[in-house]
Amino acid sequence: MTDPSASTPPHLLLGSCDYPEHVPQNRWARYAQQQKDAGLAFVRIAEFAWSRIEPHPERYDWSWLDHAVEQYHAAGLKVVLCTLTATPPAWLIRAHPEILPHDEQGRVREFGSRRHYDFASPVYREHSRRVTLAMALRYGRHPAVVGWQTDNEFGCHATSRSYGGASAAAFPEWLRRKYSVVERLNEAWGNVFWSMEYSAFDQIRPPILTVTELNPSHVLDYARFCSGLIAEFQREQVEILREMSPGRFITHNFMIFESGFDHYEVAWGLDFASWDSYPLGMLEFFAPPGTDDELKTRYARTGHPDLIALNHDLYRSLAAGGAGLGREGKGTPPGMWIMEQQCGQVNWAPYNPLPADGAVQLWTAQAWAHGADVVSYFRWRAATMAQEVMHSGLLRHDETEDRGLAEVRALEQTQFPTGPVRSRVAVLHDYESLWLYDQQRHSATMTYWGQLAAYHGALRSLGVDVDIVHADADLSAYAVVVAPAITLVSDIRAARWAQATERGTRLVCGPRTAFRMPGGQTWPEGQPGPLSGLLGVKLLQFDSLRPTLRQDVTGPGGPFQAGGWAESYRLQGAEATHVYAGGPLHGQPAVATHGNATVIGAHSPTLIRTVLAEVLRAAGVPVTDLPDGVRLSRRAGRTLVQNWTADPVQWQGRTLAPVSFEVLDSA
Ligand code: GAL
Repeated sequence: MTDPSASTPPHLLLGSCDYPEHVPQNRWARYAQQQKDAGLAFVRIAEFAWSRIEPHPERYDWSWLDHAVEQYHAAGLKVVLCTLTATPPAWLIRAHPEILPHDEQGRVREFGSRRHYDFASPVYREHSRRVTLAMALRYGRHPAVVGWQTDNEFGCHATSRSYGGASAAAFPEWLRRKYSVVERLNEAWGNVFWSMEYSAFDQIRPPILTVTELNPSHVLDYARFCSGLIAEFQREQVEILREMSPGRFITHNFMIFESGFDHYEVAWGLDFASWDSYPLGMLEFFAPPGTDDELKTRYARTGHPDLIALNHDLYRSLAAGGAGLGREGKGTPPGMWIMEQQCGQVNWAPYNPLPADGAVQLWTAQAWAHGADVVSYFRWRAATMAQEVMHSGLLRHDETEDRGLAEVRALEQTQFPTGPVRSRVAVLHDYESLWLYDQQRHSATMTYWGQLAAYHGALRSLGVDVDIVHADADLSAYAVVVAPAITLVSDIRAARWAQATERGTRLVCGPRTAFRMPGGQTWPEGQPGPLSGLLGVKLLQFDSLRPTLRQDVTGPGGPFQAGGWAESYRLQGAEATHVYAGGPLHGQPAVATHGNATVIGAHSPTLIRTVLAEVLRAAGVPVTDLPDGVRLSRRAGRTLVQNWTADPVQWQGRTLAPVSFEVLDSA
C-alpha cells in the first residue's frame, strides 16, 4: 500500500473536477493553463466517461483521454483518474439488463442518468474488473497520474441497496453462510412474532413491500449484506489498481450524510477517504429533520458550520478505523481530501442560493483546519448540457470567471500548513446503530444523524476539536468520549468502553444507548444491557414527544425542556444530576453520573451542552463559550477563527468580519 504520509503535501493544495469530454478539444490546453494559473495543483477527471472510452464493446478509444491527460501534464497539473463504473454505457445495459438495480417498490431503475447498477450482478462485476484493468494498464504508470478515485459517490441517489435481481438472488446464500441453519436465523430475527418463520433460506426476499412495518432484524441483515457487496465491488478494483498503478493513492469520494452502507468497511483498503462538500445543498437537503427554518435561513448562504465540520471530522479518520471490522486500526488517520467542493450554487436542493461573498474561502479554510490536505472544486466550467446546467463551476457557461474563482485565487495569500488534527475528544459512530435507530425512530423528528449532530454541534460550540471514530476504535488517546446514539452495543463493545473509563477517560452516552443487541433485538434483561454496570442505571421509561409537547427538566444550569425524546432511569449506583418535572416522568432521573460515566436521557440541546461543558471541564479539556456562528478549529499549531454569520462579531478583543476567517498561531 502507498504510504500516504509520504505524499501529504506540506501545505493545503487545491484542485478542480474537470470534464474534457464535455467541451471541444480546442479548449483543453487553455483550461489546463488557466487552472494552473489560478493556483490549482490537481485535476480529477473521467468518472463518467465510460461511453467515450469504450463506445462499443471492447473497442476502446483512448485517443481523446491520452490527449487530455497530456494537456494537464504539460501545464504541470497532477491528474486523479477515476474508475468508470458509476455510469455503465447503454450498450452494456441493453446486452445485460440484469445489471440494472431495483428500487424499494421492486421496480427496475432504468438507464438514462447514473449509478444504474446492482453491486451483486456477476456480469457487472466482470465488466467492472475488465474496464478497470484496461484503464489501469493504459494510465497506471503515467507520470501525470498521481492517484485514483474508485467509481463515484457510492450510495448517491439511494443506490447502495438494490431490492431485486442479482442482490435478491444472492441474499439467501449470504444468510446461509451467516446462520448455517434457518432455525438460527428465525431465532436471531425473532420470527416467531407474527408467524414470520422460514423453513428454508431461499424463501427469504429483500425487506420491501410488506403489508406493514418491516422486521428490523431483517432490515439490519440486508443492510449488512448490501454494505458487504459494495466493499467487495470496490476491493476488486483496488486490487487491480494496486498491481497496475504502483505508488499511486486510491481513494473514494464519499457523500454527505450517506447512510446506506458501512463506510468503515468500504474505506478499509483505501489510502485515505475523500468526501464531497456541498454546504448549501447540505443544509437545504440533508439537514436532520426538525432543523428549524429560521436556522436554515440564517445559514442559507454559508451552510451550517457544524454540519460541515461533522462530515470533515468523520471522513478524516474513516480510513483509519478498522476496529469495528475486527481488524487492526491503522493508527494515525491518513488524511483526507475534499474531492468536490461547492464553489457556487448547486442544482439539486429544493432551493439553491448563491453562496455569500467569502463563503468559498471560508469552506476551504475550514476544510483545511479539519484535516483536508487537498480541496478540489466542483467543477471547472459550468455544464452547458444535460442534468446539471443549473450548477455553477469556477467558470460560467460562457467561460468567464465566476465569483468562486476570484475567491480561490485570493487563497494564495494565506498559508495553510498540513499535519494531523489532534483532538482530545471523540464522538463514537457506528452504521449498524444508525440502521437500527432510523428503522424504528419512534419519534418522527428523532434520527441517528440528528442526535449525533446535536452532541457534536454542542462540542463544537464549546470550542472543542472532535474526532468522529468507530464505536470500537482505540479510545486511549481521548480525555472525553461521547456516544450520542450508539443503540447497538455488544458485550465486547461495552467491555472496551468500561476499560477506557477505568483508564480515566470520561464517557457520556445519549439516550437509546445500548437499546439493542447485535441482532437487533432488545436486551432481555432490559436496557442498557451490558452497559448497566458501567452507567449505574437501568432504563425505566422512554417517552416520544411530538413537536408541540415538551418535557421539563430541572437541575444545575436549568431549567431545560426536552423535545422529541425523554427517557428516565432507575438508579443502580449512579447519581441523578437532573430530574424530570411534571408529566409521566415527574421526579425521575433525566441525567445520571456514575464514576467517569454519564448518561443523558433527555433530548435538549441546552441540557446536552451544559452537561458536556461540565464533563469537559472535569476532564481538563479547555472550553470556550463561543458566540453563535463563531467557531474555532486547530491544526498544525494554528487556530482557525471563523465567523459564519452575515454580521461583524466582536470576539476576544477583535472584530471578525462577516463570513470570514483568521489563521492565528495556537497559544
Ligand atoms: C455530486 C456528484 C457530482 C455532481 C455534484 C453536483 O454528488 O458526485 O458528480 O453531480 O454532486 O453537486
